[in-house]
Amino acid sequence: MTSIAEEIRLEKEKQNAVILAHLYVDGEVQDIADYCGDSYYLSQMAQKTEAEKIIFCGVEFMAESAKILNPEKTVLMADRSADCPMAHMATPDQVREYRDRYDDLAVVCYINSTTEIKAVSDVCVTSSNAKTVISNIPNKHILFIPDQNLGGYLAPLFPEKRFHFVDGYCHVHNFMELMEIEQLMGAHPDAKVACHPECAPRVRALADYIGSTTGILKYAHETDAKEFIILTEIGVAHRLKLDNPGKSFYFPETRPVCPNMKKVTLEKVLNVLRDPKNPIEVPEDMAAAAKKCLLKMHEWGG
Ligand code: 13P
Ligand code: SF4
Repeated sequence: MTSIAEEIRLEKEKQNAVILAHLYVDGEVQDIADYCGDSYYLSQMAQKTEAEKIIFCGVEFMAESAKILNPEKTVLMADRSADCPMAHMATPDQVREYRDRYDDLAVVCYINSTTEIKAVSDVCVTSSNAKTVISNIPNKHILFIPDQNLGGYLAPLFPEKRFHFVDGYCHVHNFMELMEIEQLMGAHPDAKVACHPECAPRVRALADYIGSTTGILKYAHETDAKEFIILTEIGVAHRLKLDNPGKSFYFPETRPVCPNMKKVTLEKVLNVLRDPKNPIEVPEDMAAAAKKCLLKMHEWGG
């Protein structure tokens, strides 16, 4: 009997489709992807691909970014309802208010944002390129939206600038329990602590390393330590284990699980290949403005 992974492979080839998966989706979905990585990597792959169809295993803002970068391609989501709540935590009205208040303002939006927000921002960032992108910005005032945790991590690296924030956060990273992390550190005193910048400041303060999902993978692979406490979404465990068979990885007892990323299943990937319903559509005028913001990130992000 043909396995579902094999059925996906055959269907994908027949349709000249490429499968992009974020590292937070289930391991078995990561395994069938052509490209699997963090938000920046996936955005780069979406920009480069020559396939006619992009199947996104991730959340809406990722698929929308792929569509904005490739308006001529069909972009489909394995689960059309997978959305990132943080993407909706800033509004164009807030951006307008700040623009009225400060003449020398750059609006920097995290890629985890709606197309509507990208369309009114100056440049986009991901957690892996934010430092490089911001170092290219001449303005003194920076409105960083929507993630105040990533923004709060970046602000002290640029003491010459004044950062402004809105009340946005990722519910998966923001609410990790300090006590659970301290218990893990007590039980594994030699473990290095690697944390995503979407975590709250009190959690970031415990970290030996702070970086994007891919940054954490690289750190775990290149650091000599044998044990790591990982403070990001549990999906990265799959790749950490594959890449580092001799090392151990511990996650907080209350598992950091993104319910939206976990909506993606192999069955849904096969379904959307066979029955390409609800392709991603972005209104043209908004897409053009949002594309400028994404391209600026690719230009400055390196
Ligand atoms: P990165 O993929 O940039 O590490 O971001 C994490 C995230 O929360 C994606 O939704
Ligand atoms: Fe959004 Fe957080 Fe899920 Fe990433 S992990 S998609 S930021 S809710």
